[in-house]
Amino acid sequence: MNISLSNNTSPLVTDLDCVVVPVYAGNLSGSAKQIDEASKGAISQLLALGHFYGRKSSTEILYHLQGVSTSRLLLVGCGNPYIFDSKVAGELAKTVAVELKKLKVASAEIWLLESLNDEQAAQQFISSLLDSQYELLDYKNKESTQSLETIALAGTNSEQGMRYGEGIASGVTLAKNLANHPGNICTPTYLAKTAKTLAKQHDKLSVEVLEEVDMEALGMGSLLSVSQGSVEPAKLIIMNYQGVDDGSQPIVLVGKGITFDSGGISLKPGGKMDEMKFDMGGAASVFGTMQAIVDMQLPINVVGVVASAENMPSSRATKPGDIVTSMSGKTIEVLNTDAEGRLVLCDALTYIERFNPKLVIDIATLTGACIVALGHHICAIISNNDNLADSIMSAGEQCQDKAWRLPMNSDFTKQLRSEFADLGNIGGPEGGTITAGCFLAEFTQKYTWAHLDVAGTAWSGKAATGRPVPLLTQFIINQL
Ligand code: BES
Ligand code: MN
Ligand code: ZN
Repeated sequence: MNISLSNNTSPLVTDLDCVVVPVYAGNLSGSAKQIDEASKGAISQLLALGHFYGRKSSTEILYHLQGVSTSRLLLVGCGNPYIFDSKVAGELAKTVAVELKKLKVASAEIWLLESLNDEQAAQQFISSLLDSQYELLDYKNKESTQSLETIALAGTNSEQGMRYGEGIASGVTLAKNLANHPGNICTPTYLAKTAKTLAKQHDKLSVEVLEEVDMEALGMGSLLSVSQGSVEPAKLIIMNYQGVDDGSQPIVLVGKGITFDSGGISLKPGGKMDEMKFDMGGAASVFGTMQAIVDMQLPINVVGVVASAENMPSSRATKPGDIVTSMSGKTIEVLNTDAEGRLVLCDALTYIERFNPKLVIDIATLTGACIVALGHHICAIISNNDNLADSIMSAGEQCQDKAWRLPMNSDFTKQLRSEFADLGNIGGPEGGTITAGCFLAEFTQKYTWAHLDVAGTAWSGKAATGRPVPLLTQFIINQL
């Protein structure tokens, strides 16, 4: 997609296929007024008919208007101009995407952000518009139905918002692609290759992949206990982005990358088991966020780590009751092999101590309980630091990728007691998202840390959403 700011001062003359102008409830925008005058009142006559009056997300198309060079004019109802914020901008972008697709236009001049000059709104508008174009056709004998190639934003100078919106959208696209690919294609090895390809394209990004022998040498008995039953070897993928040379401590992101979660010997029921290909959604969001950061060339240091394995039953698989030793030295009784996310994450969370992180955020499709609590709408935060939890929550509010903090205390940690090892890997059915967080908290005491449970938000119930790439990218932008 070719996106730019247009310095056109009037919507009357353009070479583009379609001009999109806002109509507020009760009054015309500046661009709509100019068109109304040039066309001898075409818009006011339309409004006089009464069915279109600027209600938010309503649309109307006018063809071949007198005095206007474009053949197609798309009017978009924007509601009350005083509540035209970034949330509304995102909603309108989706409306515009649907209408432009119907019109099969290749290029559009869009005036919706006219005289708004709100960087956040521009960011939201562009990221939503691009996100609406997403499709994965790799596995279908079908041509793309998307026609849009060029977008010119007119009446605004929100250059940075536009750039950030584009960066976030490219990250969301990568995250969606990775998560939507099936488990027979997107294996731990595939994720490792993706990281290497990304690093080849960008100077400031370097990649290291630890193989199972390397992890064995590091004592990662917990992570390796998950991949043990699968023919697919586990990978620990480390992506290091050096945006500044001042030796500042990096932000470290850690993603759960279970490329298929069958449950292992504690096998899941068959219904909807296909959905467990999305169990690398946390990892996908780490990839997506790294992609967004390198695209925008942000001046900050970020390390993205992905702990990737396939969780399968076999005669070599870990059994309920097996005890493993994590890299931290803590022993874990694997009471349920389906609570595997925490087993791969805990070793990755110990490994990253070596980066002397400024703060750490792990992202994981960790518990079904999280979907029960917050649905597919909001992801859960568990954190050992109030400031960090607050900043994550407000970054989510800013970019419409919401998160909500759940409490954590020693009452919940007690549920993880094991008869024979330092810790059990399950805490019973009560408070499942919190006890999973408490398990991870046992491995993150040396740094400022937050955990995002994205079991509900990384996929919509049908397909990958690319969340929480917007939240993570916004959070990192806010650290600049
Ligand atoms: N990957 C699942 C969590 C999940 C479930 C994500 C549904 C998305 C949709 C995770 O590995 C898991 O199986 N968790 C168990 C934990 C339990 C055994 C303590 C769960 O939530 O049932
Ligand atoms: Mn599981
Ligand atoms: Zn899982």
